Amino acid sequence: MVDHMEDFVSGDNCLYLGIDAGMFKTSVCTSDGKKFSERTVIAFLQKDSENAEENLLFGKQALELTDGKTKEPLNDGLKSEADIHAFKEFLISFLSKHDVDLNKEKTYAIIGIPSNADREYKKNLLKLSREIFSGAMLVDELFCMAYEKALLKQSMIVDIGFNKADICVINSNVPQNVDCLSIPCAGKDIDREIVKLIIERWPDSKVTEELAREWKEKYGHLCFGQDMCVVDVPLENGTIQESIAEEIQIACEFVITDIVSGITRVLSDVDLDTRESLRNNIHIFGGTGNLSNVGIFIENELKELGGGKVFLDLDAVFGISEGALELARNMPLEFWGQLVAEKQDKELIV
Ligand SMILES: Nc1ncnc2c1ncn2[C@@H]1O[C@H](COP(=O)(O)OP(=O)(O)OP(=O)(O)O)[C@@H](O)[C@H]1O
Ligand SMILES: [Mg+2]
Repeated sequence: MVDHMEDFVSGDNCLYLGIDAGMFKTSVCTSDGKKFSERTVIAFLQKDSENAEENLLFGKQALELTDGKTKEPLNDGLKSEADIHAFKEFLISFLSKHDVDLNKEKTYAIIGIPSNADREYKKNLLKLSREIFSGAMLVDELFCMAYEKALLKQSMIVDIGFNKADICVINSNVPQNVDCLSIPCAGKDIDREIVKLIIERWPDSKVTEELAREWKEKYGHLCFGQDMCVVDVPLENGTIQESIAEEIQIACEFVITDIVSGITRVLSDVDLDTRESLRNNIHIFGGTGNLSNVGIFIENELKELGGGKVFLDLDAVFGISEGALELARNMPLEFWGQLVAEKQDKELIV
């Protein structure tokens, strides 16, 4: 115990980590300056090998497997033992690939969680994190983002990810409460919409959501532009090369329109003064925030309702994990010490 306390006081032997565990991608920032991100995907192979590491693939390598045994462990809310095990193995392999030494250091991690995460998800994520790190805590992911950007007073943060869009109001420099509306509508819905529209145009087409996602990430746009969205559309017999600019634009606008409705709903729920500040301080991020003209489109939609100003100044890949790391570093060392000493029985989900 005494030895422990000395370490906590000096802090020299501690490694802090900030983790953004998204359904689509997981990003990590560490206090020794590492930053890395990977698709949240794992595949267990049936190979007979002494080396356990060889029996699994994760991230892009797992996606390249063609036999379809890949798992996206966060997609169903970490409910099954299999998903919990898979995400734990994913994290361990991912950290080890980037030379994060989990055995040597004292490791303290803050993991971002969606504002509307349920109890079971939090309980299971915390449990597996504590098995990996010396100490772990869960914090609202948009709180992490706002903490990183301490100047977001009276602003709105809109995180458009893979599965959902979160629209949050930040009302003080370091928000105490994050007021958030979550809409189950984001990147995956654009992919589905593209597939639907392509099948309408070519009824015998064989397009998958994964292929639609690739097209969208390359050519996704709203309003105008991108004349050259020429792709190879797989058909029953061979492929056809055509521009799918219109389909992509319709699909993107369809989904972002729903998100604008969410933004206006949140705006209409606050008092007039706050509304004026918020509408001119809307920060869009998340992977789907990369669509071309997303800011122009949202501003145009808001014109009908009195206008608004959109900023694209947040880092979709590392913003949350950087904020989580910053928080982990700023927690008093005694806090982490206590967390470990108390065997972490206490509820430590912020
Ligand atoms: N350049 C791009 N253009 C358009 N969409 C993109 C681009 N890059 C990534 N995306 C989309 O962003 C989504 C992933 O976003 P993000 O990485 O924020 O998700 P996440 O945080 O893992 O998911 P969630 O928050 O829903 O759990 C995917 O649907 C992906 O196709
Ligand atoms: Mg996310």
